[in-house]
Amino acid sequence: MKKVHLIVGARPNFMKMAPLYKEFEKYPKKFEIKLIHTGQHYDEKMSKFFFDDLEMPKPDEYLSVGSGSHGIQTAKIMERYEAVLLRDIPDLVIVAGDVNSTVACAIDAVKLHIPVAHLESGLRSFDRSMPEEINRILTDSISDYLLTPSLDGNEHLKNEGIDEKKVFFVGNIMIDSLMNYREKAKNSLIMDKVGVDKNDFVLITLHRPSNVDSKEGFRIILEAFKKIGESTKLVFPIHPRSKKNIEKLGLGELLKSIPNLKLIDPVGYYDFMNLQMNAKFILTDSGGIQEESTFFGIPCLTLRPNTERPITITEGTNQLVKLETEDIISKAQVILNGEHKQGRIPKFWDGKTAFRIVNIFK
Ligand code: UD1
Ligand code: UDP
Repeated sequence: MKKVHLIVGARPNFMKMAPLYKEFEKYPKKFEIKLIHTGQHYDEKMSKFFFDDLEMPKPDEYLSVGSGSHGIQTAKIMERYEAVLLRDIPDLVIVAGDVNSTVACAIDAVKLHIPVAHLESGLRSFDRSMPEEINRILTDSISDYLLTPSLDGNEHLKNEGIDEKKVFFVGNIMIDSLMNYREKAKNSLIMDKVGVDKNDFVLITLHRPSNVDSKEGFRIILEAFKKIGESTKLVFPIHPRSKKNIEKLGLGELLKSIPNLKLIDPVGYYDFMNLQMNAKFILTDSGGIQEESTFFGIPCLTLRPNTERPITITEGTNQLVKLETEDIISKAQVILNGEHKQGRIPKFWDGKTAFRIVNIFK
């Protein structure tokens, strides 16, 4: 019997770990699975909603780290997870993505000589001003199993000198969740609740520090929404970071002046899937949403100068938009006029990634 810790902490981790948890559970004689939640995200709408929708059990350990600067948050996770490891030594720790919980738990484990697997390995934006890029590089450099979602990941790891024997192209695990729950998501009543119909709204999410932490950056974006809102409804489930910054940066009046804006709290997984499937297009700076929109075939404008997920551009429906009011408006206008890019679904984004991963460890 092998003991495996699955680490979650922030919103994008839950939909990546849920299918893996379920796949491991099929082999109770081989694996004992423990779910560890660092508490990096703690609001009900950023965490518990996903445990409910994704049918995940309560975590075996909840570390309650909460928010803080990078140093404080990472250190708190390391301190608290190390204590767990010392009393409950697993045979394998699996971390996902690129958040602070990912790198902190990976460091704890390798220093205790416990093997680490990194799910969603090899992605690179080549932009070291993003905290996530640092987390990706550090986690990949110390992991024992590097599980990549797309072949560009294998290429990056090779270029960084990582032994190819450690690298496994397993596909995109977010798509496993999306396929598992697509039917349930279709039944969500969120569009009625918000007051929109299929294809008559733009879905917006924003939370990158580069977009929402400076007054000038956030203002540029809201000015664009003001114009786009003249011709379509805008549904904006606002991330807590961005909500706090609207207040802090004094942008409340500008936000209020945006026509047709439906500003709502973050929504659960089924509701958000439903909004994605039915939106005219999506405007986001999220990593995961670039991928999900490609799967759904819904056009996506990504408000960033680069992406660690270029396959969503070369094969999918994604395109990058500059942090300039005019660029956002003009690219939105093209889609509103019905001229949008068609895409295809990349290899191994097929709902079988958890199966491929568990096969490696079996
Ligand atoms: C984090 C990740 C980011 C990921 C995002 C997904 C890092 C460095 N960043 O960014 O990669 O894309 O999650 O959503 O790990 N807050 C709340 N309630 C919560 C959580 C956060 O109010 O449940 C507020 C706090 O004011 C906090 C701020 O949001 O200071 C930022 O939270 P934090 O976890 O530090 O980073 P995110 O911006 O959420
Ligand atoms: N998501 C959600 N509700 C929301 C916003 C996002 O369920 O209100 C989901 C989204 O579908 C995707 C994940 O959260 O599965 C992405 O998380 P986020 O954008 O916070 O993080 P990132 O992917 O940028 O790291």
